[in-house]
Amino acid sequence: MSKGNFFITTPIYYPSDKLHIGHTYCTVATDAFARYKRLCGYNVMFLTGTDEHGQKIEDKAREAGVTPKQFVDNIVAGEGGVLDLWKLMNISNDRFVRTTDDYHVQSVQKIFKKMYDKGDIYKGKYVGKYCKPCESFWTDSQLKDGCCPDCGRPVVDAEEEAYFFKLSKYADRIQDLLENTDFLEPRSRVNEMVNNFIKPGLEDLCVSRTSFSWGIPVDFDPGHVVYVWVDALSNYITALGYENDRYNDYEAFWPGVNIVGKEIVRFHSIIWPAMLMSIEEPLPKKCFGHGWLLLDGGKMSKSKGNVVDPYILAEKFGVDALRFFLMRTFPFGSDGNFSNELLIQTINTDLANDLGNIVSRTTAMVGKYFGGTLPEGCATCETAQPFDTELIGMATALRDNYEYAMEHFAPHKALEEIFKVIQRANKYIDENAPWVLAKDMDANGERLAHVLYNLLETTRICGILLTPFMPDSCAKLFEQIGSCDACRTWDSAAVWGSRAETAPVTKGENLFPRVDVQKAIEELEALQAAKAEEARRASLPAVEIEPQSEEFVDFDTFCKSDFRVVKVKACENVKKSEKLLKFTLDDGTGTDRQILSGIAKWYKPEDLIGKTLVAIVNLPPRKMMGQDSCGMLISAVHNEYGEEKLNLLMLDDAIPAGAKLC
Ligand code: MSP
Repeated sequence: MSKGNFFITTPIYYPSDKLHIGHTYCTVATDAFARYKRLCGYNVMFLTGTDEHGQKIEDKAREAGVTPKQFVDNIVAGEGGVLDLWKLMNISNDRFVRTTDDYHVQSVQKIFKKMYDKGDIYKGKYVGKYCKPCESFWTDSQLKDGCCPDCGRPVVDAEEEAYFFKLSKYADRIQDLLENTDFLEPRSRVNEMVNNFIKPGLEDLCVSRTSFSWGIPVDFDPGHVVYVWVDALSNYITALGYENDRYNDYEAFWPGVNIVGKEIVRFHSIIWPAMLMSIEEPLPKKCFGHGWLLLDGGKMSKSKGNVVDPYILAEKFGVDALRFFLMRTFPFGSDGNFSNELLIQTINTDLANDLGNIVSRTTAMVGKYFGGTLPEGCATCETAQPFDTELIGMATALRDNYEYAMEHFAPHKALEEIFKVIQRANKYIDENAPWVLAKDMDANGERLAHVLYNLLETTRICGILLTPFMPDSCAKLFEQIGSCDACRTWDSAAVWGSRAETAPVTKGENLFPRVDVQKAIEELEALQAAKAEEARRASLPAVEIEPQSEEFVDFDTFCKSDFRVVKVKACENVKKSEKLLKFTLDDGTGTDRQILSGIAKWYKPEDLIGKTLVAIVNLPPRKMMGQDSCGMLISAVHNEYGEEKLNLLMLDDAIPAGAKLC
C-alpha cells in the first residue's frame, strides 16, 4: 500500500549549452531521493526539465544562425542532449517540462495575470544593473566590486518600462518562513538569505522585459515578455497541471521538495514563496540548496568553459560507479573539488575493494564449498560468536540510520552508514577465515554455512539500500546472491533472515572491476582533450581565407618580381631556431642558392629534399639568425579551425630548375 504522494524536483536547466557534471550531480542526487522514496513505498512524482527562454538563449541562437526554438530543440532533444544524458545516467524522472511547452506558456500567463489582478504587479520603469550570463537584475548595493555578486562578471546599465512584483509586501512572511520553519536547508543558508537580502530591504522585482522577445508574452500587454525567473519557477506547478488541462496532478502532489544549487537558493526561498503567497497557493515543503562541484577550486560553468563531461566518465567507468562517486564523496550541502583521481580512488576503495570484494569472495566460497546452495538451517547456528552478533546488529540497524540520513538530505551520510557495515563484513571474513573452516567440512561445515549466510544477508541489506544510488548494479548483485523479489524490499531491509537459506548463489561477472589509476588517467586526459578539441573546432570556421587585396598593383611592378622554379638539394633545421629551415637550392644558374624559410612548424627537412618548388629570386638578400637568405619560397596559406596552415607550392618534377614563372 502506498505511503502517500511525494513530489520532488530538480531545477530546470538552461539549454544554452551541453550540460556538465555539475548539472548531473544535482539530477543524480534528486534521482536518488526519488528512488529512495519509491523504495520506502511512496507514490513519487519526480520532475525535471529545461528553462528555455531568455536573452542568453536568444543571443546564442542568433550566433548559431538558427531560431531560438531550433537552438533549444537541438540541446534538449538532439544527439547527446539533455534527454540523452538523463537516459544515460538512468534518471527515473516521471515528467520532463520544457518552458516552451504550450501548456506551460498558458499557465504562466494565467499566473502572471492572477498576480496582476491581485494588485501585486504594477507598471514602472526599470533602472538598474543587469548580468547577461546570469539573466539577473541587481541593485547597486547588491553588486560585489561593481560586478555580478553571483558570477563576478561585469554588469550593464539597464533602463526600460517594466512590470514590477511587490516582493516587499511579502518580506515579513518570508522572513518568518525562513527563520521559523525548516523550509530552507541547510540551515546555514537561512542567515545568508535573511542578512543579505531581507534585512537590507527586499526591493520590488522587475518581472517583465521589453528589450528582447524570446519569452512568454504578457498577454494583456503585448511587447512585454515575462521575466525568465517568474516563467521558470512556475514550472514546478504548471507541470502538475496548475491552470492547464495537460495534467491533473496538482491537488495530489503539490506542495513538493525543490532541490537546487546554492546559487539559486535566493530565487527559490524568497521569490518563489512570494509568488505562491501572491496567487494564494501552498508553499513548497522544502528548498534544499546543495553545494557546487568545483574544478581546481572554481565553479564549473558552461560560460567559463571549464567543464567536465559526464558522457566521458560514464563511458569509461560505468554509470553506476559515476552516480555512486558523486553521492558518496561530496557532502551534499557543501562544495567539493572534483578530480579524476578522486573518482578512481573512490571506485577502487569502496566499490572494488570493499563492496566488490565481499560479493565476489562470498559468492565464490558458496560455489566452491557448497556447490552454490547453502544447506537448510544455515541461518541459525548453535556456536554463535560475538562477531556474528555484532555484524547482525549493525546490519539490522542500518536501515534506520540510513533513513535518518536520507530524510535529512544527506546521501553521503547514508552511504557512509552502508560502508561501515560493508567494512565490518569484510573484517568478519578475516575473523572467520572460511578457507580454514573448509579444511574440515565434517567438523566445521555447519559453522562455515552460517558465516556465509551472514555475509549474504549483510550484502542483501546493503544492496537494497544502495539501489537508489546504483540501480543496475544492485539488480545484478541480487541475482548473484540469490535475493528474491520479496527480499529486495524496504521492509525486508530491516528484517534479518529474510533471504531463503537455500536460495541459489551464482558467482557472476565482477560488478566493480579495479581501475588502473595511471592508465585510466592517461586515457581520460586523452579523451577529454579530444572532446575539448572537438568543441573548440565546432566553435570555429573550418576554413578561413584572407580577403583579396582591394589595391591594384601596376603590371610593370608585378613583372619586376622574378619567380623561378627551384629544386631542393639540401634542407636542414637552423640551429637555435624553432621556426627556420635552411634550403640549398638549384635555381638553374649553376650556383647554389641559399634561402631561409620560417616553415619548420609544417615541414620536416628530410621530406623536402628533391622537391620542385617556387621562389622569388630578386628580393634583396637578408640575414636571418646570422645566415644569408637570398629570396623567398612561395606557399599557400589559410586558417583551419583557427590555426594557420601552410603549403609550399610544389610543381611537377619534370619542370627544370630555373624555369621562369610568368
Ligand atoms: N534555469 C535556472 C534554474 C531555474 S529553476 C526554476 C538555472 N539553470 S542552470 O542550467 O544554470 O543550472 C542550475 C543548476 O545546475 C544549479 O542550481 C545546480 O543545481 C546545478 N549546477 C550547475 N553547475 C553546478 C556545479 N558546478 N556544481 C553543482 N551543481 C551545479 O540556474
